[in-house]
Amino acid sequence: MTAAVRDASRSWAAGHLAEEGPVLAACDVSVSFGASRVLNDVSLEVRAGELVGIIGPNGAGKTTFFGTLVGALHPVTGTVTFEGVDVTHQSMAQRCRHGLVRTHQIPRPFNDMTVFENVFVAAVNAHGSSRKVAYQYAIEALTHTDMLGVANRRGKELGLLDRKRLELSRALATEPKVLLLDEIGGGLSEGESMELLAMIRALNDRGITIVWIEHMVPLLRKAAGRFVCLHQGRIIADGSPDEVMADPTVTSAYLGGSVK
Ligand SMILES: Nc1ncnc2c1ncn2[C@@H]1O[C@H](COP(=O)(O)OP(=O)(O)OP(=O)(O)O)[C@@H](O)[C@H]1O
Ligand SMILES: [Mg+2]
Repeated sequence: MTAAVRDASRSWAAGHLAEEGPVLAACDVSVSFGASRVLNDVSLEVRAGELVGIIGPNGAGKTTFFGTLVGALHPVTGTVTFEGVDVTHQSMAQRCRHGLVRTHQIPRPFNDMTVFENVFVAAVNAHGSSRKVAYQYAIEALTHTDMLGVANRRGKELGLLDRKRLELSRALATEPKVLLLDEIGGGLSEGESMELLAMIRALNDRGITIVWIEHMVPLLRKAAGRFVCLHQGRIIADGSPDEVMADPTVTSAYLGGSVK
C-alpha cells in the first residue's frame, strides 16, 4: 500500500470512527487498593489511529490505569468501553482476544523458554487453538521487532533492549487494535530508544492505536500527538504536548521530581 493510499484509508477510518465514537474509553473510573484510593473518576477517550502519551510523576496511577483498561484490575466505580462495547466486566483474556493489550512496565518473559516460544505462547493464548495461525502471528511479530535473529535465545539470556522488544513482540502476536505501552523506553540508551521509537511509529502507521506511558518526555514528544498527565489518581491535563508541558499544574505536579 502506498503512503498516500494508507493515509487516505487511515483518515477515512479515523473520520468513520469519529462518527461512531472513541475506540477506547474510560468513564469516571475509580480504583482502590484496600482503603487507598489510587484512581479518582478518571475519564479518557482515545480515537482510532491516535498515539497518546501518558505522563505523570511516580505513583500517579498510570500503571494502575492501564491495569484497569485491560482488565487486570477492576474499578470500584466507572466503566471501560472498547469499540463501543462495555467491557468493564470482561476478563483480561476476553479483552485481549478482541484486540486490547498492554506491555508490562517490568518485562517478565518465561526465562527458560526461547524468544520464539515466548511469543508463540502469547499468540496461542490470544488466537485459541489454531497453532498454524499463532505461528504466523508469532513470526510476523518477531519480524516487526527485528528479533528473528535471536528467536532461539532463552528469555534469561536477553539484555534489557531485547527484553523490551520481546515484551512488544508478545503483545504484537495477539494482533492488537489498541496497544498500551507501559514505560517501554525506560532504562534504554539514546540509540536503543530511537530504535524502539521507530518500531512504535511503524505500528501506529500500520493503524494500531497506541497509548504510551513514558517518563522520557523528549522521546514521547517524538511520537505522540497528544499528551495526558495523571497526578494523584486524576487527569490534570489533556492536550497537545506543548500545551500539556506548558501547563502550570503539570509543572507543579513534578515539583520535587523533574520533567525530563
Ligand atoms: N497492588 C497494589 N497494592 C497496593 N497499592 C498499590 C498496588 N499497585 C500500586 N499501588 C499504589 O498505587 C499508586 C499508583 O501506583 P502505579 O504503579 O499505578 O503508579 P505509576 O504512575 O505507574 O508510577 P510509576 O511512574 O512509578 O510507574 C502508588 O501509590 C502505588 O504504591
Ligand atoms: Mg507505572
